[in-house]
Amino acid sequence: MAEVIAGIGVSHIPTLGVAMEADGNGPGAGVFETFAPVREWIRQLDLDTLIVVYNDHASAFSLELLPTFVIGAAEFYAPADEGYGARNVPVAQGNIDLSWHLIDSVIPAGFDLAVAQKLDVDHGFTVPLTVLFGSPEAWPVTVVPIAVNVIQQPTPSAQRCFDLGRAIGRAIATFPHTTRIGVVGTGGMSHQLQGRRAGHINSEFDQMFLSEIVDKPERLAELSNTDYIREAGSEGAELVMWLVMRGALGDDVTSVLSAYHVPVSNTAAGLVAINNDRGQQ
Ligand code: DHB
Ligand code: FE
Repeated sequence: MAEVIAGIGVSHIPTLGVAMEADGNGPGAGVFETFAPVREWIRQLDLDTLIVVYNDHASAFSLELLPTFVIGAAEFYAPADEGYGARNVPVAQGNIDLSWHLIDSVIPAGFDLAVAQKLDVDHGFTVPLTVLFGSPEAWPVTVVPIAVNVIQQPTPSAQRCFDLGRAIGRAIATFPHTTRIGVVGTGGMSHQLQGRRAGHINSEFDQMFLSEIVDKPERLAELSNTDYIREAGSEGAELVMWLVMRGALGDDVTSVLSAYHVPVSNTAAGLVAINNDRGQQ
């Protein structure tokens, strides 16, 4: 039987990848130290597969063709060329059986995911893997990418994201292969890369989010996208993807690590690691 063992919420700022790759020896040593403990924890979990909920930043999709939710169903996912060459990270191997099980379960349950049988993954996907695993020759897990449109309005609501996570959690419970699964929600924390409020940081909101994503995710799901943009900034609204992750976990969870660092780039970076104590209920 497949099981959701853990959930992770983590920022995907490109500079964060650089800091974690440098293992504390380069710029960004402070954020490296803050986030490093997650690596030992995840190593001990010995996961088989990560479902990575991330957003594409007009790398694989364009503003002319931008599905709301996309699930990958490919044998592998190559790092995308974001305009200055692909990141020098491994190609991720897909768990294609799990992809198709999720597709066959979640779409009939009312979540109309687009299916991508070829998908290059940008920093939204690859930076969290670097945070979790460093710079190995090959990623130690197979993956299922799920891309969410959080860059072009109208974007899906936090509630819709949470409900999608719940549907994914239910689907995993019926996956017939023994598989230890982690679910990663990426993006955030507060940041705005453009306009008058560029550099907007709201630490109070971020700390509230880091706490409630564990214990009171229903409250975060009630916030509107306007609330997220007002409080966390236009790109801080990426945080709704953490709710997909949290929805896939059950009610009984334990926070293992909660970490926050400002600034990385001109952005707040956060991480939460959650044990799923009794699985989906
Ligand atoms: C930054 C943050 C992001 O979420 C992103 O996708 C790109 C850049 C930044 O803070 O630099
Ligand atoms: Fe982003």
